[in-house]
Amino acid sequence: MANEVISALMTRRAIRAFKPEQITDEELMTVLEAGTWAPSGRGMQSAQMVVVQNEELMKQIVRMNGEVLGDTSRNPYYGAPTVILVFAPEDRTTYVEDGSCLLDTLMVAAESIGLGSCWIHRERQMFETEEGKQLMAQWGLAPEMKGIGALSLGYIEGEKPEPKPRREGYYTIIK
Ligand SMILES: Cc1cc2nc3c(=O)[nH]c(=O)nc-3n(C[C@H](O)[C@H](O)[C@H](O)COP(=O)(O)O)c2cc1C
Repeated sequence: MANEVISALMTRRAIRAFKPEQITDEELMTVLEAGTWAPSGRGMQSAQMVVVQNEELMKQIVRMNGEVLGDTSRNPYYGAPTVILVFAPEDRTTYVEDGSCLLDTLMVAAESIGLGSCWIHRERQMFETEEGKQLMAQWGLAPEMKGIGALSLGYIEGEKPEPKPRREGYYTIIK
C-alpha cells in the first residue's frame, strides 16, 4: 500500500548539507506543531523543544557539541540555519523514548514539506556541563531536563543521499 505518509517515511534521509538561507516561520511552525502531536508515555507531553536560529547561540552550541565529540574543527550540525534541541525530564520513566518520538515526528514532518533534517547526538553531555546548565536555566528549563538529541533543519543543498538497502530479516512475523 502507498500513501503520502508512507512515502515521507521512506524518502526521508539524513541531510548533512544545507543552504545558508533560513527556513520560513511558517515552515518552522508547521514542523514544531507536528512535533507537539508526537506520542509520549502516559500522554504526558513531557519533552520540550528549544529552537536555535540566533547566530551567536548557534556558534556556541556548535562548539559545545564539537567539544563532546572531541572535534571542534567541523560543524556537527552541518551548518543548518535552524537547530531544534530536544529535552525531556529524567524523572519520567519514558523520557528518552518521549524525546526520541518527538525527534522522529519532527523529521518526518520536515520531509513532508520538503525540508532537510538530520538527527544529531550528544546533547545529553552538552547540557550536563556547567555551560549547558546555565543555558538551560536562561531558557527556563528545569534542572531535571536532559538533552535527548537535536534536529538540524533547513533547505537541502545538493542531492539527497542514496539510502542503504534495507537489511534482510528486519522483521519476524509469527502467526
Ligand atoms: C539516535 C540517532 C543519533 C544520530 N546522531 C547523528 C549524529 O550525531 N550525526 C549525524 O550526522 N547523524 C546522526 N544520526 C543520523 C543517522 O546517521 C542516520 O539516520 C543513518 O545514517 C541512516 O540514514 P537515513 O536517516 O538517511 O536513513 C543519528 C540518528 C539517530 C537515530
